[in-house]
Amino acid sequence: MAEPLKIALAGLGTVGVGVIRLIEANAALIARRAGRPLQVTVVSARDRNKPRGVDLSGYAWEDDMVILGERDDVDVVVEMVGGSDGPALALARTTIEAGKGLVTANKAMIAHHGLELAAKAEDKHVALKFEAAVAGGIPVIKALREGTAANQIERVYGILNGTCNYILTVMEDSGRDFADVLTEAQAKGYAEADPAFDIEGTDAAHKLSILAAIAFGSKVDFARVETSGITRLRAADIAQAAALGYVIRLIGMADTGGGLFQRVQPHLVHCDHPLAHVDGATNAVVAEGNFSGRLLFQGAGAGDGPTASAVVADLIDIARGELGAAFSVPVSELEDLPPAATGHRLGRAYLRFMVADRPGVLAEITAALRDAGVSIESLIQKGRAGDAEGGGSEVMVAMVTHEGPESAVSEAIRLLDGSASLSEPPLVLHILDN
Ligand SMILES: NC(=O)c1ccc[n+]([C@@H]2O[C@H](COP(=O)([O-])OP(=O)(O)OC[C@H]3O[C@@H](n4cnc5c(N)ncnc54)[C@H](OP(=O)(O)O)[C@@H]3O)[C@@H](O)[C@H]2O)c1
Repeated sequence: MAEPLKIALAGLGTVGVGVIRLIEANAALIARRAGRPLQVTVVSARDRNKPRGVDLSGYAWEDDMVILGERDDVDVVVEMVGGSDGPALALARTTIEAGKGLVTANKAMIAHHGLELAAKAEDKHVALKFEAAVAGGIPVIKALREGTAANQIERVYGILNGTCNYILTVMEDSGRDFADVLTEAQAKGYAEADPAFDIEGTDAAHKLSILAAIAFGSKVDFARVETSGITRLRAADIAQAAALGYVIRLIGMADTGGGLFQRVQPHLVHCDHPLAHVDGATNAVVAEGNFSGRLLFQGAGAGDGPTASAVVADLIDIARGELGAAFSVPVSELEDLPPAATGHRLGRAYLRFMVADRPGVLAEITAALRDAGVSIESLIQKGRAGDAEGGGSEVMVAMVTHEGPESAVSEAIRLLDGSASLSEPPLVLHILDN
């Protein structure tokens, strides 16, 4: 059999150890499919003496992981450290500069520096691969780069953060509020001790910006992803959505209508839509091609096994000599799409207002909506928030609009800005019907 592909592994946490386990467990099968064995030669992490549940005695240890790519016993570096900058980025740069391939699961780094790294990799004729960076074990990057390569992708969207999806489905099943469920998710290991990246939508935005670049052949533009997370959702929003036949899911959505549109936001998703049935920590991506039609990819978005599966698939590609452009076309050919203006986008929206419990408030809200040209399809509830939220003189007013331009809803919200009747800014969620 041909020479092994010699691998340096930086980071021995959840995913790094998963990669070692997978390469060891499926060694023979992988070698057959790759045409040669995958051999980890050297590993690195912060603490050499930390027990990791795998035997590392057969691998060399490197204290300074940044120089892994410069070693003679390394053909490709697997970066499983994390963080958009810092040591992960330094390692990526030195590895590619040294003419070695790089495999990473680091969505933050690819969202921020992917173009620079891809350009450098093209320059050096080495691979840059990051299947595990988007939707963990789901091979969606490969599907977009290869399986749907003949299509114009018109829209790509999905559930890209398992932590948020887990929290939302527990809120749905239990009727409990966000903060309560988050605490439990942290205790069970479904949410990080610092959950900000997940619950504020940043992690999903990293992944969406990568997916959009691959789907549309455009430059990664993370900075312009319109992002809001799930922190403002109340149990009552989920109950109202359910009464209307919807569930609430954090959806990342991108298309190229009038420029590059990229949004991460909780949406009301109609129960008939396949994404409405994606529960718990699962991820799912929908891609709509002009010839393929709607494709749905679903599976585990995180975890040691699924993520390692995606990492090792990238290594097998490299072992076979399949380099490919990181973002499906060479960096110099990626389009520089301007951000889409969203005002003209048509859709229905769920609007929720927390208001003072006194006469005239509902009239003030409906007047603002009327003046902005927003037509109300249904006023769902005017009930005491105290019933669900623990007392007080606040009530919740929730409604669904008829289809109309987003600019009209924005104008209504602007007209209500500063109103003494509102106890917090209105919540606007878009509706995904099909
Ligand atoms: N976990 C998942 O399910 C998942 C899914 C998809 C993508 N990812 C991505 O995969 C990457 C790794 O995630 P993970 O969950 O495996 O992380 P993790 O469990 O926190 O492991 C990180 C590893 O990096 C090492 N490390 C951190 N800082 C370092 C430094 N300055 N120098 C050397 N080593 C350093 C740590 O060393 P010590 O162990 O010695 O402290 C640890 O072994 C991240 O980019 C993450 O976003 C993770």
